[in-house]
Amino acid sequence: MSLESMAGHSAEFFAKCFGREPKWMVAAPGRVNLIGEHTDYNEGFVLPMAIERYMFVAADRNANRHATLHSVTTGETAKFNLRPRVEQGEPAWSNYVRGVVAGFQRRGERVNGFDAVIDSTLPYGGGLASSAALEVAIATLLETVSGHALDPVEKALLCQRAEHEFAGVPCGIMDQFTSTLAKQDHALLLDCRTRSATSVPMSDPAITVLVINTHIRHKLADGEYAKRRSECETAARVLKCRSLRDATIPVLNGARKQLDPVVFRRARHVISENERTVKAAQAIEAGRWELMGQLMYASHDSLREDYQVSCRELDTIVEIAKRIPVKEGMIGCRMTGAGFGGCAVCLVKTDALRHITHKIDDAYEEALGETLEMFSSRPAGGARVLSWAPGSPKSARTGKTSSRQGRGAGGEIRHVEG
Ligand code: GLA
Repeated sequence: MSLESMAGHSAEFFAKCFGREPKWMVAAPGRVNLIGEHTDYNEGFVLPMAIERYMFVAADRNANRHATLHSVTTGETAKFNLRPRVEQGEPAWSNYVRGVVAGFQRRGERVNGFDAVIDSTLPYGGGLASSAALEVAIATLLETVSGHALDPVEKALLCQRAEHEFAGVPCGIMDQFTSTLAKQDHALLLDCRTRSATSVPMSDPAITVLVINTHIRHKLADGEYAKRRSECETAARVLKCRSLRDATIPVLNGARKQLDPVVFRRARHVISENERTVKAAQAIEAGRWELMGQLMYASHDSLREDYQVSCRELDTIVEIAKRIPVKEGMIGCRMTGAGFGGCAVCLVKTDALRHITHKIDDAYEEALGETLEMFSSRPAGGARVLSWAPGSPKSARTGKTSSRQGRGAGGEIRHVEG
């Protein structure tokens, strides 16, 4: 579904829930990470890109001190007090919103009552950073409502803090950064220590990014994520460095006897992944796709063996991809995101896309008896406000629209840089 028709769908929903048209419409993208996994919280490098799958927020002010949110995905409504201050609460997804509102309040911003509909084309919990996209969408909305734009890095950090404090996930900065700062037709090489981003052009029409969703969600993921993070901190302490960003493989090998074998492997993944990520950005820039593919496969092996965050479904996809040679159009494939399920990302030659998706689908069904969801995406731009021009009075009154193609509740969408 296009950005316009999706926004129209959200507006329609808003009209149904609240009996009027939304005043604001915001879209924030999810992301896929091409390489650089579990490196962000080690002050290392990541190479994500935003995808053409979005979190939409349609909103308007209300006359009270509450935020009322309706999620189209879960069908739930959350209502919470904005004053004296926002607290954690139910349903769980509302904490991403609550945390961002609290971040604005901490900055001394007065957040007035608002009604919002939250809608998404991102698979919920699919490892494509839907929670970060929700945080960034809400932050973009609050910037618009208050008329104060935040510095983009501060905005990403505010959203990350919301996730730490309100959702209890000690995530790194990659997801919120990407949803905020992504540039169309570019991947972002992020240096998570200096928080600086270098855009890496990814506009070669001969290459397509293919995302494959396993639909597997591991309940233990959050606990395992925090465990990995603390294992990395232990390794850095033993190696006497500020973070694993500063360590090298020879230094790590030299300290092998002082390290618990599991901690050693975690560190080996992070150190080698940082090296691969910097090389990958150079490979993309030079159009050295075969090298990029090799780096992706090596990243997956390291995540499976040393970091132990893959799963049978992801490994099956990568094994199938490995059997398709570059000359048949498969460049490389790996798991993407935190792991334990979620998605794999492939780089594919565009003219072989159909052939490859069929091949993966058939082989996966044969191996595991399940089907996969696959979609391709160009690198998308970061979060933005869509200007919302109210349309015909009839549709505004009834909340009905004749079409979902680029129209919603009679309004027209234009893109405005956010
Ligand atoms: C999740 C986190 C990110 C990052 C990845 C793993 O998506 O939110 O900060 O750590 O996992 O690379």
